[in-house]
Amino acid sequence: MNYNIATLPGDGIGPEIVEQAKKVMVAVGKKFNHTFNFEHALVGAIAIEKTGNPYPDATHELCMKSDAVLFGAIGDPKYDNDPKAKVRPEQGLLAMRKKLGLYANIRPVVTFPSLLDKSPLKRELVEGVDFVVIRELTGGIYFGQPRGRSEDLNTAFDTCVYTREEVDRICRLAFDLARKRNKRLCAVDKANVLGTSRLWREVMQELAPQFPDVEVEYMFVDNAAMQIIQWPKKFDVMVTENMFGDILSDEASVITGSMGMLPSASVGLHTSVFEPIHGSYPQAAGKNIANPCATILSAAMLLESLNLLTEAAAIRKAVSDSLAANFVTVDIDKTAAKSTSEVGDWIAAHI
Ligand code: IPM
Ligand code: MG
Repeated sequence: MNYNIATLPGDGIGPEIVEQAKKVMVAVGKKFNHTFNFEHALVGAIAIEKTGNPYPDATHELCMKSDAVLFGAIGDPKYDNDPKAKVRPEQGLLAMRKKLGLYANIRPVVTFPSLLDKSPLKRELVEGVDFVVIRELTGGIYFGQPRGRSEDLNTAFDTCVYTREEVDRICRLAFDLARKRNKRLCAVDKANVLGTSRLWREVMQELAPQFPDVEVEYMFVDNAAMQIIQWPKKFDVMVTENMFGDILSDEASVITGSMGMLPSASVGLHTSVFEPIHGSYPQAAGKNIANPCATILSAAMLLESLNLLTEAAAIRKAVSDSLAANFVTVDIDKTAAKSTSEVGDWIAAHI
């Protein structure tokens, strides 16, 4: 088969890691007789530099007509240190999510046996951790209006808004995923304080009888933050609103031992986007040292979305073989470290 893949490498280490994932997909294409046509587009700080817009129309058009999007990372310290910058790379990411209708971000949190001793948590707590965070991605405080500053600039405000429809569609997706896994769904909110959270809880309670085989647990977000590090094995599927999901998925990612290993999928109304959960790591940009595995595993999720399951499994196996062989980047092994491109070559050669 022939597939059109939009590649949006973005900033920092983005170009280096996306290159490795492309390499691996080419190897998959050779072995399984597919053609992946990659077309490149701008996003983030590099897009601001070249076009003035962090998510140019041309990039959106390419995403819309592609079968899937492989995304690197966005962000540049130049903007982080300038809170007054009018245009910011992150706006590109948010615009892409909104325009592609990517309302669900799926972040699997899985430990790799060879990385257990890298976890900040004790081995016995993390061995066998396997859960998925489903984060709402196009609503809540990230997008709510009004937002801004008072005229005297001494007050700032953001608005957290959710409609029943927005909550309903993501909760259904979470129930469906829980059904395919261990049938346990944890809904994380702050219903003791926030009106939006009470709407989430109401919708969850209305939906639950339609999924009687799924066991539902409700948890306040502060408690969830604590339980993720105290007892991460208890979770199967977790669903939550945009900002809670942003925070909890970062927390969850580090317990696996390396943030550089975790992929994600954003799905919704139009083309799906696959990206590593880590950021643009500007300190490492251009040094050929960043871990490409999260992006390579994002390519595996991308193939799954195209129903290429054997092909995706081949990528996962090659990645775990690279870990078992200790053919890894510096974040995993300081003494025997291989470069980004060496790891990409190794995994591509072992497909
Ligand atoms: C993420 C990131 C983004 C977010 C930033 C870069 C805007 O942290 O994808 O989790 O907050 O959603
Ligand atoms: Mg984040």
